[in-house]
Amino acid sequence: MISHPRWSFIILSFFHSTYFSWGETFSIVGPSHSIISYVGEDVMLPAFLSPALNAEGFQVRWFTAKFGSPVLVYTNYSIVNQTDRRMSIFQEELKNGSVSLLVQSVRVSDEGIYTCHVVSGELQKEVQIALSVEVLGTQPSISVSSTDDQQTRLECSAEKWNPQPEVIWRDMNGADVTLQSTITTELDTEGLLNVSSVITVKKDHNVFTCLMRSKAPKPDWPSRLCVYGECENGLTFVPVICKILS
Ligand SMILES: *[C@@H]1O[C@H](CO)[C@@H](O)[C@H](O)[C@H]1NC(C)=O
Ligand SMILES: *[C@@H]1O[C@H](CO)[C@@H](O)[C@H](O)[C@H]1NC(C)=O
Ligand SMILES: *[C@@H]1O[C@H](CO)[C@@H](O)[C@H](O)[C@H]1NC(C)=O
Ligand SMILES: *[C@@H]1O[C@H](CO)[C@@H](O)[C@H](O)[C@H]1NC(C)=O
Repeated sequence: MISHPRWSFIILSFFHSTYFSWGETFSIVGPSHSIISYVGEDVMLPAFLSPALNAEGFQVRWFTAKFGSPVLVYTNYSIVNQTDRRMSIFQEELKNGSVSLLVQSVRVSDEGIYTCHVVSGELQKEVQIALSVEVLGTQPSISVSSTDDQQTRLECSAEKWNPQPEVIWRDMNGADVTLQSTITTELDTEGLLNVSSVITVKKDHNVFTCLMRSKAPKPDWPSRLCVYGECENGLTFVPVICKILS
């Protein structure tokens, strides 16, 4: 009977310290790499509290560097500001510590750095997540011109890419000659890229291919190839062949 008060003291202090460590500290865990998505898809920017506290009573704000005001504000148990209906959080998952942002029908203009800011009492934590929106552009086409010193200048160009694709040139032997080329890009009015790669070649090498492909790993996305050929007499152009490789 004498030991009874001591036991209650120990149990109480245990709960007390547990309460404090949960209330005082948490961090937000996001991905270490940028999130890659494709136009029109729905994408989640994953952000989780660690430990997985119940965030229903916290304030959660998501914002981008592009917009001064937040894209979403959750406070007082509800979403109070949502500048774009396509952007939302999973309210039913807050109790499991998820503060992830869902972006529906992704657009190129959604690309950028997103910051998730969580406030609980005195504590404020944030995490940044980069969103990249890929667009596979048009097939390249090759055009031919001559330089002042009588060399052949091949220009491989395509429209509506984002971000800049990888461009690979090969000669008739299949050797990679990309290092001899120069690439330029221009932004169009939709925020997509016109891509142009130029290579100067000697007459004795007369078949070239130009390949454009996304730098993002997505195996089922095709690469785009264009072949330029010139007949042996050097006068007649073989039609340029373009195809999509899967
Ligand atoms: C939270 O919501 C309740 C009920 O809607 C309201 O009475 C209270 O003032 C709100 N608190 C804040 C800080 O907005
Ligand atoms: C909500 O949005 C309005 C208009 O964009 C802005 O004035 C207000 O400050 C925002 N509220 C919060 C809590 O961010
Ligand atoms: C969230 O937590 C509840 C119980 O607290 C559980 O039933 C549910 O499966 C959890 N959801 C996820 C996605 O982990
Ligand atoms: C992009 O390329 C298309 C087709 O070649 C052309 O019509 C357009 O003007 C170009 N836009 C820019 C910004 O260079």
